[in-house]
Amino acid sequence: MKTVTCTAPVNIAVIKYWGKRDTELILPTNDSLSVTLSQDILHSKTTISASKDYTQDRLWLNGKEEDITKNRRMHNCFRETRALREKMEQADSTLEPLSTYNVHVCSENNFPTAAGLASSASGLAALVYTLAQLFDLNVTVSELSRIARQGSGSACRSLFGGFVAWEKGEAKDGSDSMAVQVAPESHWPELEALVCVVSDAKKGTSSTEGMQHTVQTSPLFQERLNIVPGRMEAMKKAILERDFQSFAELTMRDSNQFHSVCLDTYPPIFYLNDTSRAIIQLVHAYNNSSPDGKLKAAYTYDAGSNAVIYAPKENMREIIQLISHYFPSQDAATYFTDPYNVIAGAPLGQDFVPQGHASFNEKVIPVFAPGSVSRLLHTKVHDGPRILASEDDSLLNAEGLPK
Ligand code: DP6
Repeated sequence: MKTVTCTAPVNIAVIKYWGKRDTELILPTNDSLSVTLSQDILHSKTTISASKDYTQDRLWLNGKEEDITKNRRMHNCFRETRALREKMEQADSTLEPLSTYNVHVCSENNFPTAAGLASSASGLAALVYTLAQLFDLNVTVSELSRIARQGSGSACRSLFGGFVAWEKGEAKDGSDSMAVQVAPESHWPELEALVCVVSDAKKGTSSTEGMQHTVQTSPLFQERLNIVPGRMEAMKKAILERDFQSFAELTMRDSNQFHSVCLDTYPPIFYLNDTSRAIIQLVHAYNNSSPDGKLKAAYTYDAGSNAVIYAPKENMREIIQLISHYFPSQDAATYFTDPYNVIAGAPLGQDFVPQGHASFNEKVIPVFAPGSVSRLLHTKVHDGPRILASEDDSLLNAEGLPK
């Protein structure tokens, strides 16, 4: 029996992937670019063991056994990695025939799924990365990203740390549609992120379903496809030059455009709610209050109501105070745990600058009911998947069952 455990990070796009030109191979209609967030705060962890004694492939997701054969996208990732292993075994008969063994997979997120945070990217990236370790695959990270892409498009970007582009590629078979690292996490350590978990009872339209409705019905989407290539270049330049002004404006504009094509989809798709929209206004008010006219923060939203605010480290204390003033906690114990000690025990929601500035008119942006934002997660730009070598980290016991 061979067992491997790995973790993979969440990534949040600043140029959004939305639309497929091939739904089976998961080939996108446009390039996208994301920032990899720290696994110390958010990650998916996966343990996989392979044994000749296992009678079938088995899968446990967040503590519940699932039928692995029903998950076609996961199945594609297994098929691709097993095929690569099989080739290695054919070339070298001394290798253990792992490709012929059944596997047990156990995977969990360190964040509650109920928080509505995207978990498919980190989950599928963790699966593919762990399979590659298990099978000792001799492939580049970009090659591996091509496999993860077939699990969930955005997962291909979670195989790298730092700043990551997914190049849409041109080939029909998807051979050139993969992720590449634009810059490592060490490139821009001042850039940080605050995830604002927005309470939202309703179950939204899934990305998979929503994006194809957009492709089929939105005329505005065709215009977006002409705009993204220029934005990709501008965004790469902004990152390479650590130019927060350009980075912030492009990020906000691209999030707004993505949600505009959702609204232009027929029937329309709404991902933002009142709280999300108020956070947008608040970030603009905060940027307007900047004495030198410089942008201090940028918001972005995926296919849901949660906000991710990117900002330089020096503004984070102010932003946390600002958000917690307008969106106060309901449960102080879980609302904000201050992992990087920026608030250092000071009262939350009071000390934001500049108090009384005309931008912060409570008639325009009211203080919301406690709990409208349920959690604030302060995080940083960080590394790609990690291998956890210690037995203690394994999610499976010696019998190959969940611990
Ligand atoms: C809005 O990667 O979840 O988060 O490929 O169908 O699994 P599938 O979709 P998914 O879509 C993510 C869309 C997005 C934007 C992004 O992450 O770029």
